[in-house]
Amino acid sequence: MATTHALLDAALAKAKAARDADLADLVEELRIPSVSAVPAHREDCLRNARWLRDRMEALGMKAQLVDVVDGGLPLVLGDWNGRPGKQHLTIYGHYDVQPADPVEGWTSPPFEPEIRGGHIYARGSSDSKGNHLATLKAVEHLFAAGGPPINLRFLIEGEEESSGHTIARYVRANGSKLNTDAVLVWDGGFDEFDNPALATALRGILYVELHATGPAVDLHSGTFGGIAPNPINTLARIIGELKDRNGHITIPDFYDNVRPPTDEELADWKGKDSHYAETVRQMTGVRALEGEPGFLAIELTCSRPTLDANGIIGGYTGDGAKTVIPAHASAKVSMRLVSDQDWKAILVSLEKYVNVLTTPGVQIKVVDLGSSPPVVCGADHAPARALRAAYSETFGRETALVRAGGSIPVTVDFQEAVGAPILVSGISQADDAAHSPNEHLIVDQYHRGIEAVIRFICKLDDQ
Ligand code: BES
Ligand code: MN
Repeated sequence: MATTHALLDAALAKAKAARDADLADLVEELRIPSVSAVPAHREDCLRNARWLRDRMEALGMKAQLVDVVDGGLPLVLGDWNGRPGKQHLTIYGHYDVQPADPVEGWTSPPFEPEIRGGHIYARGSSDSKGNHLATLKAVEHLFAAGGPPINLRFLIEGEEESSGHTIARYVRANGSKLNTDAVLVWDGGFDEFDNPALATALRGILYVELHATGPAVDLHSGTFGGIAPNPINTLARIIGELKDRNGHITIPDFYDNVRPPTDEELADWKGKDSHYAETVRQMTGVRALEGEPGFLAIELTCSRPTLDANGIIGGYTGDGAKTVIPAHASAKVSMRLVSDQDWKAILVSLEKYVNVLTTPGVQIKVVDLGSSPPVVCGADHAPARALRAAYSETFGRETALVRAGGSIPVTVDFQEAVGAPILVSGISQADDAAHSPNEHLIVDQYHRGIEAVIRFICKLDDQ
């Protein structure tokens, strides 16, 4: 094997020469509508999984699709152990994407990638195909340059965006076999100030559907209006009451275990907060930001929990007027949780509370749609230093340590079942419109992401 330095230079040169091909591959993957939440897209998800497996295999890795849960989506597992005795890195990503709707909001169709002004627009460009493909491309260029200096494993799941259980079960069942020196959870991105970032925490999530049932059938709202219970009115009021005007969540005991940020974190955030708040205000196009008084904007998105309705449906929503008291209404409600909140305890408290808030004629059922605990990860270890050095050389900017507001459910499974240092990071930009129409990634960011991962992998070997 060439010295790591020669290998690094050779792999970087390969990446430079292959920019067009690397972009073409991203376009190809983005054309696959791998929406895991929608059963009609199951075949597309499987096609995406095979697409990745075939690419890993072509590199000389031992690649396979692993089915864990009946009716679930397979994991793409790629292994290469050609450097016995050397470091071992596990790279995590997800090949599934969020639904594209509202489709009318897109300037170009979500699964027909288009490059405008140096950005590639498509569902999954940033979250997270640009991310995982950058890692696979980095490995490809290392192979082309003589072979990676360390041992590698890819674990790419297809159920991240829809709270599936496949990867959690796999990681929990194979904990000791997954022995590794670091886990790169490369499904995040840069901070709001365009700095590369390493997450020291992720919020957890409790995601429920509330089903409200009133009359046995839809009723004439004139004949029965006045005495018939209305599940939409009751459900809307309950959702309204779960969070007060000041943004304070009213579920009993909800805040019991919220761990406050450290003094260092607060001092750091204070200095950045007004810039952050203004950046977010512009990014989101809101007239004013909201949130509990007395907290910084950064605290409210990073170290405080939230509650949001994500969708609500019931009754007549077609054209014109229809006078009806509906039999059912339902809503999707998510809570982002921070350490040390316990989603199981909060779910029990929520179930009790909605039964207190409801009216006598409306029955509320709470269904758990998928939940995961918050995570705290240290950043004071050799793999983190390697990643920060790789970023500094690639992007010319220092890495920010941030708490991410989003959730990556498998992180806690890696932490508890595998135990190696975890690096939550990635190349998506804060204004990438992830989960929204017109999701996009800066094309140059993808290419530099590939270079950063090449450097990171070589630095892991140097340690
Ligand atoms: N890539 C995101 C998570 C993320 C967002 C990390 C922002 C860092 C910063 C991931 O794909 C995601 O969206 N996760 C879901 C998980 C949920 C469906 C359980 C989320 O956070 O909504
Ligand atoms: Mn996502």
